[in-house]
Amino acid sequence: MTTQFIGKPDFTISTQTVSESCPSNIALIKYWGKYADQIPANPSISYTLNHCKTNTSMEFIAGETFSVQTFLAGNEEVKFAEKIEKYFRNIEQYLPWILQGKYIIRTENTFPHSSGIASSASGFGAIAKCLMKLDDTFTGKISEDESLRKASFLARLGSGSACRSLYNGLIVWGETEEVEGSSDLFAVPYPDTEIHEVFKNFNDWVLLIHEGQKSVSSTVGHGLMKTNPYAERRFQEARENFVPMKEILKTGDMDRFIKLVEHEALTLHAMMMMSEPAFILMKTGTLEVINKIWDFRRETGLPLFFTLDAGANVHLLFPGDDPEDQIRVFIETELLRHTQKNGVVKDVMRF
Ligand code: DP6
Repeated sequence: MTTQFIGKPDFTISTQTVSESCPSNIALIKYWGKYADQIPANPSISYTLNHCKTNTSMEFIAGETFSVQTFLAGNEEVKFAEKIEKYFRNIEQYLPWILQGKYIIRTENTFPHSSGIASSASGFGAIAKCLMKLDDTFTGKISEDESLRKASFLARLGSGSACRSLYNGLIVWGETEEVEGSSDLFAVPYPDTEIHEVFKNFNDWVLLIHEGQKSVSSTVGHGLMKTNPYAERRFQEARENFVPMKEILKTGDMDRFIKLVEHEALTLHAMMMMSEPAFILMKTGTLEVINKIWDFRRETGLPLFFTLDAGANVHLLFPGDDPEDQIRVFIETELLRHTQKNGVVKDVMRF
């Protein structure tokens, strides 16, 4: 493990309240499978969302016995507090003051809990940012770049994909020779000069096909890759996918982008179907929507496509400011009916 983030021994702690906000993200090349200490089995790349965020305020009462109390949208969440307590104990070596007080953490998401949008990514991102703000006052200033990188490093230890939420734009986590400076320990922004303009203005509309508890948590899902007979091939493919992705991002090749992104999403779900025990994370509505999107593209040639997280909801992706009329009407008349309550969360990726 790295020693670069191990905190300085000298610090004076004081009672403080800090607030931070962090968005969620949606992966294009997926992280699915990990080793000890939150080391990803393959590199991944994601878009950071602009609207779906977690806002967190952290009150640190110095000198009290270490404890954590958490409130989600005003309601006390004991299970979440236990998780954060464990997390803080785990990162003490990187923030030596962290166990020397009591925490009251108030957090709220700007998106519905049931949406399947990764609240662990925005949640741990916001907590890591709050911790770095406290660290700044206790141990002295480090540069803004270094602080962000350490926040990404700490967020990863809470939830892998969270480390990508610290930066805006297209973000890479996991070492790949295709991206200079990439690391298994923290995320880095994909170089802006290597991104075609068409990929800097994108939409992600999440169709809420199924609202409710996911049938499998990410932690269990990652664990199932340990015994999946196709896992090594999958990790290799994800690594290989960075080669075409790099070309696509540079040249603005939308057709190849669509093919690659949809393939990644379907591969993630295929892995779950081939796990032991097996999980089918799609619902009937997910399949209906996918087939309709494919028909729509065949008929119109318009760049409307999808990605999926480890759940049934469909992330509709399309470039540009507002959807052109044909896309908007198609979504409203053909796709929304497959959601549970006409549920859609509209986000953008603009940078
Ligand atoms: C399907 O980051 O939620 O969203 O590290 O166990 O917290 P943990 O898992 P998590 O996994 C996210 C997986 C994914 C794909 C991705 O975001 O790359």
